[in-house]
Amino acid sequence: MDKTHNVHGVMDAEQYDHLIRSIVPCQPLLLSTIINYLPKNPKKVLELGCGTGILTRMIREIYPDAEIIGIDLSAEMLNLASEQSELKGVRFLAQDLREAWPEGFYDAIVTSLCLHHVPKEDRVMVAQRAARVLSPGGRFICGDVYRARHDWEEEMQREIWFGGMRHGGASEAVVQGMIAQREKHLPTFTTVSWFRDMLVEAGFSRATVPFTSGFVGLVVGFV
Ligand SMILES: C[S@@+](CC[C@H](N)C(=O)[O-])C[C@H]1O[C@@H](n2cnc3c(N)ncnc32)[C@H](O)[C@@H]1O
Repeated sequence: MDKTHNVHGVMDAEQYDHLIRSIVPCQPLLLSTIINYLPKNPKKVLELGCGTGILTRMIREIYPDAEIIGIDLSAEMLNLASEQSELKGVRFLAQDLREAWPEGFYDAIVTSLCLHHVPKEDRVMVAQRAARVLSPGGRFICGDVYRARHDWEEEMQREIWFGGMRHGGASEAVVQGMIAQREKHLPTFTTVSWFRDMLVEAGFSRATVPFTSGFVGLVVGFV
């Protein structure tokens, strides 16, 4: 990935950690809920679309002995992750999450704000693969953005989101960029309940939605 890679067309990797909080106002609660849903003392964790390592750091902090592998398409985001002393020893791989993952079984596969970047059929493929490579008791923990079930809900949530971004300090250029991105990708988004049901069809024995806030939702699949 070259240096021009940016996230959502509105920010580069250097700005990411600061801006993501204004773009996703519920981000701290989303990430802490992901941590709460990790299985106890996981030995091996795979993170898909780890970016600059915000969630990776939280996993490392609570489970310092776990083997963690972080995959991301952007070498620039991964450079920012790998230069952090807290993330020493984490294996970062610059690759598409749809490519083969390092062999072996995982206790948890986690992902935050990333899966909507790949087409719906690839999200299904990723879920099927996750169900195959999770150990007994393993969990697939997916925080992501979804679409509302009805147009009126979508409209209402957008208004609240615009206000939240502005209140959080996002510039007008960023707000407009995010609106354009949502408009462009909306046809490929699914509802959070579709994603939960899809996990069961993909091979998980149970799936739950422990958290939603506006467009953001957390879905956990249990093998
Ligand atoms: C919005 S950021 C989320 C980063 C991080 N998970 C977080 O919560 O801060 C989305 C990340 O997904 C990565 N990404 C997008 N498409 C990808 C793909 N097909 N394979 C791997 N990573 C991808 C981007 O490079 C970016 O780092």
